[in-house]
Amino acid sequence: MCFHCLPLTALPLTVMDKLSIKDLDLKGQRVFVRVDFNVPVKDGKVGDDTRIRAALPTIRYAIERGARVILASHLGRPKGERVEKYSLRPIHSFLAGLDEIPAVEFADDCVGEKASAAVDAMKDGEALLLENLRFHKEEEENDEGFAKELANLCDLYVNDAFGAAHRAHASTVGITKHVEKAAAGLLMEKELEYLGRVLNNPERPFVAILGGAKVSDKIPVINSLITRRVDKILIGGAMAYTFFKAEGFTVGKSLVENNMLDTAREIKQRAEAEGVKLVLPTDHQVVDSYDPLKSRKTIPIEFTNAGLVGLDIGAETVAFFSKELEDAKTVIWNGPMGVFEEKGFEEGTVGVALAVAGAAERGAIVIVGGGDSVAAITQAGVADKITHISTGGGATLEFLAGDELPGVEALNDK
Ligand code: 3PG
Repeated sequence: MCFHCLPLTALPLTVMDKLSIKDLDLKGQRVFVRVDFNVPVKDGKVGDDTRIRAALPTIRYAIERGARVILASHLGRPKGERVEKYSLRPIHSFLAGLDEIPAVEFADDCVGEKASAAVDAMKDGEALLLENLRFHKEEEENDEGFAKELANLCDLYVNDAFGAAHRAHASTVGITKHVEKAAAGLLMEKELEYLGRVLNNPERPFVAILGGAKVSDKIPVINSLITRRVDKILIGGAMAYTFFKAEGFTVGKSLVENNMLDTAREIKQRAEAEGVKLVLPTDHQVVDSYDPLKSRKTIPIEFTNAGLVGLDIGAETVAFFSKELEDAKTVIWNGPMGVFEEKGFEEGTVGVALAVAGAAERGAIVIVGGGDSVAAITQAGVADKITHISTGGGATLEFLAGDELPGVEALNDK
């Protein structure tokens, strides 16, 4: 039986039947907390701190209960080498500047003599940050010996790294076999609760907004949403051009995945067959030269001639998408509407940020994931209106696609 033909009840959904940090007796215990502190760092300073702040409730919870909190994370992809630009020291400095938690110590390695000496020196209610797990290639290999070394540092294990839960690494999976108890942290629980609600039992109308460059990145999510009979899928960003080209529109030099044209047609047919409304932009911002800001203009999609490149949705589409959200009760948004990171082409994505915030103000459950969408929410000043901002990138997409997350599966059942 193909994935798409599975009955809804048979889909591999992760339910929150896992042990929680709230089930653990933390007093005096050495608790290894896997966090996802994989955040942008520039010139030794933390950029977007959303992920770090999202983990603070778990850290505080454990500290307040007298645990010895050992924080471990990856940063970037140093491929098993000690690469200074991927050191967690800037994150340590950031943590040191926070009022919400007491001072955090730093260990220059995540295993070996340095790590164990730092852990031995801890007292109840103190926290320690270990150096980047990925400075050891054994982390990504989910090496048994390395997982044991990590486990030897602690009595209990808590995974709060939702963003890394789709990775089967030593600190997310291997370690769980060598600790007394492996539980979910508060952030992990919150992510699974909100995203799980979207998958299992969304209040309707349920609207998904998907953007980004490539259809290929989003196919599993689109298929999963269609299978769950989302009411509408609004598609923006460059991935819309693959759908337009598949329909026979001229898209000029806009980004298209030519090997995905059949897939785009299939998606459209499946959506129609399941009664899911697939909504594409009606206008877009285009440029015709390498001086984008000078040549920028907004035109209807059907006026796109061979020399033009579409870089953002237009104002008419923002208004049209906003209207599609008017009666929404559940909204999920992942992916930008254009080249949001380029000055002058952020209006579409920010416009959608304001529209989803409006839906939240009208009482809808609104979940936003993905770096650019989250940045647009912040830029639009509406972060406090959003029901849940997901800290996951790939993890959120895999979860929404209905895949099991190894880092969640590995935790003990209640
Ligand atoms: C992320 O940023 O999505 C997570 O931290 C996982 O990082 P990775 O893709 O390098 O495993």
